[in-house]
Amino acid sequence: MARATSPKTKSYQRERWATRIGLVFAMAGNAVGLGNFLRFPVQCVQNGGGAFMIPYLVAFLLLGIPLMWIEWGIGRFGGKYGHGTTPGMFHYLWHHPLAKYLGAIGMALPFGLIVYYIYIESWTLAYSFFSMTGKYMGIESRQGMAQFLSAYQGAVSNEHFSNIGTAYVFFVITLALNFWVLSRGLVKGIESIAKVVLPLLFVFGLILVIRVFTIGTPDPAYPERNVLNGLAFIWNPDFRALTNSRVWVAAAGQIFFTLSVGFGAIQTFASYVSRKDDIVASGLATAGTNEFVEVIIGGSIAIPVAFAFFGLEATREIASSGAFDLGFFSMPIIFQQMPGAQFFGMIWFLLLFIAGITSSVAMAQPLMAFLQDEFKIQRTTAAMLVGGLAFFLMQPVIFFLPYGFLDEMDFWIGTVGLVVFAIIEVVIFIWIFGADKAWREICAGRDFQLPRIFYYIIKYVTPVYLFLLLGFWLVQDGVDVLLMRNVQEANRVYIWFARFLMAGILLLMIFLVRLAWQRKHMIRQQVP
Ligand code: PHE
Repeated sequence: MARATSPKTKSYQRERWATRIGLVFAMAGNAVGLGNFLRFPVQCVQNGGGAFMIPYLVAFLLLGIPLMWIEWGIGRFGGKYGHGTTPGMFHYLWHHPLAKYLGAIGMALPFGLIVYYIYIESWTLAYSFFSMTGKYMGIESRQGMAQFLSAYQGAVSNEHFSNIGTAYVFFVITLALNFWVLSRGLVKGIESIAKVVLPLLFVFGLILVIRVFTIGTPDPAYPERNVLNGLAFIWNPDFRALTNSRVWVAAAGQIFFTLSVGFGAIQTFASYVSRKDDIVASGLATAGTNEFVEVIIGGSIAIPVAFAFFGLEATREIASSGAFDLGFFSMPIIFQQMPGAQFFGMIWFLLLFIAGITSSVAMAQPLMAFLQDEFKIQRTTAAMLVGGLAFFLMQPVIFFLPYGFLDEMDFWIGTVGLVVFAIIEVVIFIWIFGADKAWREICAGRDFQLPRIFYYIIKYVTPVYLFLLLGFWLVQDGVDVLLMRNVQEANRVYIWFARFLMAGILLLMIFLVRLAWQRKHMIRQQVP
């Protein structure tokens, strides 16, 4: 593998992806996450079923793909100057002191996300273990499983768990696994793990899809409860949904989240790509893989099988109570009604775990890269620092979970933050740096010209779409959430705490950026 020397420093070498296929695997691992299997089906059912696919497809073409290319372009551009994170990238795109601080958002978002994402990821590891050992076998209602999860999370104490201890152990294991992968580095860690576990994810997904498709009519007393009707249920289009702006915002939000765009994580991965590589094709391959996993595999498992077992009304109710109800309450009940319950339960949760861990390492990589690129900190030390910080910040998420702490973070980071950051990067790259130069950055390394229509989409349609989205969101939910209109009085203090924590993360990143630039300045003065 050829290692490139950054033009800025001779002593420090940035890593490069070892192979093209490894890069696509790593990027697909980044994109394919819990969002594909839990968030997508629920969003789909809540927002018009099959009709949801129309705004979803539109958002994919006009936001998802363009932003994917924009982020790969920004990332590779920054990598050329030895910068793996958006502060350095923006600094070179826009020679203004503010640029690097705006870039700090692209570190705060993925790091803020990891703080709660890894906790959920650790539940999937625990549940795959519980499936294997048969721990939840015998719990036959969703309420029962809800109690099981509550006790696991330490919110109540019952015969399954008397305290949060087990959850804490799985959390520590999951965190350690993540940072073990990261400490091995880009190629030996992220790339080689992705090459092993992603095919496994496909195998597990396929096994589950086949199992679901062959389930038939589980209860002969209810002939209408079968898989075909389940598929019809998730894909049955309700075209009235299209007149509702909420549905359009939800579809765009799902595209963002599932493709990992608008965070700062894609840019970091792309900074290890060489200029000779065709990022248009690789970006498309990544997005395409993600969509296949999301729509075909993700859409065929949880909702159809829930329909076959619980019927129409209950499935609606499950979907309306959200992703955790579907993944952690309903699925374990369903598996218990099949032969081989323990096996299917185990692979369902392992599938989620694999999807999760290949995403969470991608969320941590920006801060890792920042410490390595800007402070020349050793990789293993960087992994320890970032892991330690994440451990520390995750404590309130774990202990205050029942008070809406996680939901508040998810709203600001996973729903709003990414749209705001996408606007910032599009403005900087397309409008300030310039659409023509940006286009050349994206197309460099490509043998065939990209249809010109995308140039206009990137230049005009994507930015307008983004602003509209933010506007609609502000009107619909922004004010309510901001003023905590739907939060119980007793929980408000925790919500404030969550906001302080997020603000703290952002301030920390801004501070680090400042420190890094001061340091650079000093080094430049020392070397005549
Ligand atoms: N795309 C991931 C998912 O679907 C989430 C993610 C966001 C991963 C940002 C990395 C960075 O779950």
